[in-house]
Order: sequence, then structure tokens, then C-alpha cells
Amino acid sequence: MISSSPHQPRQVAALLEGQCKVDVYEATGGAVTSQFAAHNLSLLPPIPPHSIIHDNACGAGTVSRLILSSDVISDLKIHATDIDQVFLDALQFDVQKNSWPIEVSNQKSKSLSFPDNYFTHSINNIGIFFTSSAGLVGAKEIYRTLQPGGTAVVNCWEDVTWLPPFALVHQALRPGKPYRALPILWKDSQQIQKVMLEVGFPRENMRVEKSEAWAKTNDLKDWAEKSWAYLGGIGGWVETDGERWEEAVELLVKHILDQEGTKRVGEEVWMRASQWVVVATK
Ligand SMILES: C[S@@+](CC[C@H](N)C(=O)[O-])C[C@H]1O[C@@H](n2cnc3c(N)ncnc32)[C@H](O)[C@@H]1O
Repeated sequence: MISSSPHQPRQVAALLEGQCKVDVYEATGGAVTSQFAAHNLSLLPPIPPHSIIHDNACGAGTVSRLILSSDVISDLKIHATDIDQVFLDALQFDVQKNSWPIEVSNQKSKSLSFPDNYFTHSINNIGIFFTSSAGLVGAKEIYRTLQPGGTAVVNCWEDVTWLPPFALVHQALRPGKPYRALPILWKDSQQIQKVMLEVGFPRENMRVEKSEAWAKTNDLKDWAEKSWAYLGGIGGWVETDGERWEEAVELLVKHILDQEGTKRVGEEVWMRASQWVVVATK
């Protein structure tokens, strides 16, 4: 992610400037979150007309776009919210161009402006763990804003093949500097179920599943460079990161290839990621 660190390498700005950030996300981790979103939408009954849907922590509207790409949908309203204005702008641009029924707004998942019992569907694709109290605060808002009988979909990473390599590159290039990675991996399904139960979703109205998706590339070096630009700042950029950029990218490639979740398929390298998803009815 782009940080305001004085040590952020010039390569980061060059790769992620303005709307390029959205393209980089979509060419790397975004391809996987999109597969999860498509899978999770397939778990729901057809979305009826007049539905009011929340695409929570929407990024550039991955969930909204998938919903609208289904040709059986008519007369619905989507509210897409996120805190990253660059992503929201990318979505807003397409909303205007295509006259999509999406209202885009900059809102934190922990304090939404929507009234109680408002949405028929509330979907948060790979975002609930960013809210405080280990997701509880985000889950509370999902429950509050959902109509009785409405459906919530939340998910979290179980495993991400390319994340441990980031820590390894950090340790090699920034020795002695602690790695402050966000606790974004909820390895078992307990935490995501716990927060949904705690806010009021009954267990008997809850379906829990695991599924996997693959990031695929025929140019791993390019993929790794973009990913390093996007996520290398998690450990905190240091002064030498700019001059050691190539070294970092090469090391990232090496460690990705060493991971159990990586495989070669023809000319491509495939990297596995898996999710836990909870579909719950209020
Ligand atoms: C992994 S991305 C997923 C984006 C999108 N849902 C998708 O499927 O591609 C996580 C998103 O959560 C957003 N986010 C992080 N913290 C947030 C918060 N506190 N409130 C709202 N959105 C947040 C980020 O800006 C980012 O767009």
C-alpha cells in the first residue's frame, strides 16, 4: 500500500500513482478476491428485484460489478463504501459511464451512515478483519444495517501463499526491524464465526464454508514487483529499499517459488489462496 513514509521508494510511486494503484491491485491480489466474490455470490439464492445491497469495503466495486453482470438482475440498488478514495473514484467513473444503480461513498465499515434494518444483502469481501476488536466492530454494523431476514456475507483469508515471502524479504533486507504485519489471516474459521455470533446472527442461520482460488501469472517477476510495491510497505519502508528494489523483487520471486502453495502450470505460475466464508441470515 502507498504510505506517506519518507523512505517510500520512487518505484512505488511510479507503479501505484493515481489510478495505476487499482490496476496493480486487480493484476495481483484482486484477481483472487474477485474469484472469492464470484464463488460467494453463487452460494446465494437469486437476488430478487428491489433488493438493497451493501458492497462493504468495496474497493473498486468487485462485488457490485459481479452482481450487475448477472443478466437476471433488475431494479436493485447498491451502496458501495470504502475508505480508499482512489478505488472509489475508479468505481464512480464506471458508475457514471454505465449509469449503474450504485451509490458510492467514502465510509468506514465501523461507523456507517445507513439506518438500522436497511439492506436486504450486506456483502463484505475480504475486509471485515480490518475493523477493530478483531472484526467485531465491523460485524456489529453489518448486523445493525441489515433487515430482519436479510443476508450477510463475510469472508477472511485462510491462507495466502505469497504473504510469508513478504515477511522473509523484510527479514532479509531490513534486519532487526520488527515486522508489523496486520493480523489479517484468520487461519481457522473460529474468529469469523465468533464475531458474527456475538453480534446476533443465530448459529442455525449461518453457513460456513472454505474455498480456494489461484493467482496466476506468466510473468512472476512483474507480478512480484507490483505486489512488492503494493504490500512491501507493510513492514515499513526503509532508506535502502529504493536501491535494493531489484534484490527485493528477486528474493520475493525466489520465496514465492519455494512455497508449497505455488505450482507451475504450463507457462504460468499459480499461487493458491483460500478463504473462509460465512453466509448468515438475520
Ligand atoms: C482486500 S481489499 C477488498 C476490496 C473488495 N471488496 C474486493 O473484493 O476486491 C480490502 C478493502 O478494504 C478497505 N478497507 C480497509 N479498512 C477499511 C475500513 N476500516 N472501512 C472500510 N473499508 C476498509 C480497503 O480500502 C480495501 O479496498
